[in-house]
Amino acid sequence: MDSRSWLVLQPDPPELQLPDDLRARDPFGGRDCGWVAQMRPFARHYAAPGARVFDPFCGFGTTLLAAALEGRAGCGLEVDPARAELARERLRRHGVDAPVATGSLPDTSAPAPFELCLTNVPYFGCRWPGDGDARAGQLYLERDYEAYLRRLRDLFHAVRGALPEGGYCIAMAQNLNLDGRSLPLAWDLAGILGGLFVAREERLLCYEREPHTLASGDAGTDRSHEYALVFQKQRERICLHSTGDELQALRDAGFAFGLYGSYPRWLADPGAREPADADLLLPDDQAEFDRLLWWLHERHYRLSLWGEPLHPPLRLPRLREHWYVRAQRRDRLGRLVRLDLALAGHAERQAQAPMR
Ligand SMILES: C[S@@+](CC[C@H](N)C(=O)[O-])C[C@H]1O[C@@H](n2cnc3c(N)ncnc32)[C@H](O)[C@@H]1O
Repeated sequence: MDSRSWLVLQPDPPELQLPDDLRARDPFGGRDCGWVAQMRPFARHYAAPGARVFDPFCGFGTTLLAAALEGRAGCGLEVDPARAELARERLRRHGVDAPVATGSLPDTSAPAPFELCLTNVPYFGCRWPGDGDARAGQLYLERDYEAYLRRLRDLFHAVRGALPEGGYCIAMAQNLNLDGRSLPLAWDLAGILGGLFVAREERLLCYEREPHTLASGDAGTDRSHEYALVFQKQRERICLHSTGDELQALRDAGFAFGLYGSYPRWLADPGAREPADADLLLPDDQAEFDRLLWWLHERHYRLSLWGEPLHPPLRLPRLREHWYVRAQRRDRLGRLVRLDLALAGHAERQAQAPMR
C-alpha cells in the first residue's frame, strides 16, 4: 500500500468472484458481496505474513479469501447459517482452510485468535428479504438506527476485547442515502470506533462508474466511494501533568477517592511504565457518585460506559454491571486526561476477573 489516501479498485477476475451457483442460492442474490480486490491490500498491509485476519460480518467469505491469497490465515463469524455455509463452500473450492462459525459477537466468540479485524459492515436500511427477529442478531433486520448503532458498538467492543494490543480494526462503510435522506453511517461508525480504538487513518475506496450530468442544484452523487476506517487498539498516552491537575481539582471540590493500578505505581516510581489512565476508587454512595458525574460533565468530560456515551446520572447497579465509567477530556493542546471511575470493593473484586 502506498501513501495515497485513496485507492481506485478494479473488479475481481471471474475466478475470484462469488460463483453463480452460490449466488443463486442466496435469498439476497449475493448483492452485498464485496470484492476480494477491496480487502487484499488491507490484509497485506495491516497483518504480518501468517497472522490471522478475522471478519465478524463474514458474509460469503470474501475477506477470508483475500487473506489467504495474501498468505494470511482467516476466520469469520456470520449470523446467517445459510450464508455461513455458502462461505465455507466457496472457501473449500479455493482450497482455503479458514473456520467460519455461525453466530454473532458478543454472544459467539471469533472461532480463532486473530491479529487483524477486517470487515464490511452490514448496512442499515438494507431490504433483507428475511422477516426474522432482529434480536436474533441479523443487523439487516434492525429497524431503528440508534439500536443498530448500539449493536455495532457492542460488537466492536467485543472485537476490541479479543484483539491484541497494537492490532488493527478496519471497517469499511459508506454514508447512506435512504429514500433521499442522508444517514452518515460511515461517520457514526467512525465515532463508535473512536470510542474503542485510536483512529489511525481513513482511506477512500473509489469505484469507477460512468458519470452522468446532474441537473443544476441536484446534490446527489453516484456514491462511487466508501471509507476504509483504520483504527488501532492502542492506549493513547495520557498527559501526566494535566491528570495530576485534574486529580487535585477533584480533591479541591471535596470528592473522596482512592487510586489504584498503574497511576499510583508510577507516582511511587517515576521510572515505571507510564500509566494509560488513572483508576479511581469511589465510595459506594449514589448521591456522591451523581455529584461527581455532574461535576465532570460540567467540566466537559466525555463520559462513557464501554464506549457508549453516557449522560449523568447513572444508577450504581448499572455501573457495577459495567465495572467502570470512563471520563475523558482534552485540553487545548489536545492532551488527554482519562479517568476510570469504579466503586471501591467492586473494582478490586473485578480486578481478579479477566478484563472485557
Ligand atoms: C456486507 S455483508 C458482508 C459481505 C462480505 N464482506 C463478503 O463480501 O463476503 C454483511 C454480512 O453481515 C451479516 N450480519 C448481519 N448482522 C450480523 C451480526 N450481528 N453478526 C454477524 N454477521 C452479521 C449479514 O448476514 C451479511 O452476510
